[in-house]
Amino acid sequence: MRVLIYNQKGGVGKTTTAINLSAALAVEGHETTVVDLDPQMHLTAAIGGSDQAGTGTAADWISGKPVQPRKVTGSPGLSLVPGSADALAGKVGEAQFQHPNGGWTIVDAPPGWSEALGQIASLSDLVICPLEPDFLGLNGLNQLLRRMSEVGFDRDRLRVLIARYSNRLAVHREVRGKLIDRFGSDTVLPVVIRSSVRLAEAPGLGQTIFEYAPKSTGASDYAQLARTLISQRSLARSQGRPRT
Ligand SMILES: Nc1ncnc2c1ncn2[C@@H]1O[C@H](COP(=O)(O)OP(=O)(O)OP(=O)(O)O)[C@@H](O)[C@H]1O
Ligand SMILES: [Mg+2]
Repeated sequence: MRVLIYNQKGGVGKTTTAINLSAALAVEGHETTVVDLDPQMHLTAAIGGSDQAGTGTAADWISGKPVQPRKVTGSPGLSLVPGSADALAGKVGEAQFQHPNGGWTIVDAPPGWSEALGQIASLSDLVICPLEPDFLGLNGLNQLLRRMSEVGFDRDRLRVLIARYSNRLAVHREVRGKLIDRFGSDTVLPVVIRSSVRLAEAPGLGQTIFEYAPKSTGASDYAQLARTLISQRSLARSQGRPRT
């Protein structure tokens, strides 16, 4: 299962989602590889450490060269293809998207848009778009949908993930309702990632939320997200849908 975490808007929770969704899938017993496509390399800085074996970077991975993902310390079942400053400079190959053993590949995209990202989106089984439910977030989503339709991306594969959510904020409750009305509950994921200081603190310690604060709301929200995606995949398989 190939999942791209994408939103052209910066600071919406893409990297936080890539790290902690991957870690949650691994906790659920699914072999998972997370790929850091962002030349800023925030994800690699957060969980990459420096002592793990492995070869190749996201630049090799994207061009289809064989890479050996690093094992992520403290997260059995989770591996990382580390970032590189030129990750999106080359041509996009295809082979790298197949995870060995039918596991999950989660790709953390940089903000912004490029042709390479469009290609990666169209090669993905799912594109998860995290956004903060405010009016700028809503506006950005319209832009994203236009871009996706330009590259022929099929809307069935898009999932909106409401992130940095605070139930106390009227605007969050309101925009969440609007998103569901407009895009439907198949596109808007039923799980919401609540705003949580623990999620912001964990990368500074080089840890996922499951190591740093396993009892926090952040851990419970990302665990719930992983279970939702796993059950949607099983459902799609049992209905014989292609590409999953
Ligand atoms: N649910 C959350 N609760 C609290 N803070 C969060 C949450 N999700 C993300 N953050 C914080 O918000 C900031 C931006 O998050 P993150 O780096 O995941 O966004 P991004 O979309 O990857 O940004 P960029 O576009 O720069 O790559 C970080 O400081 C992160 O710790
Ligand atoms: Mg990021």
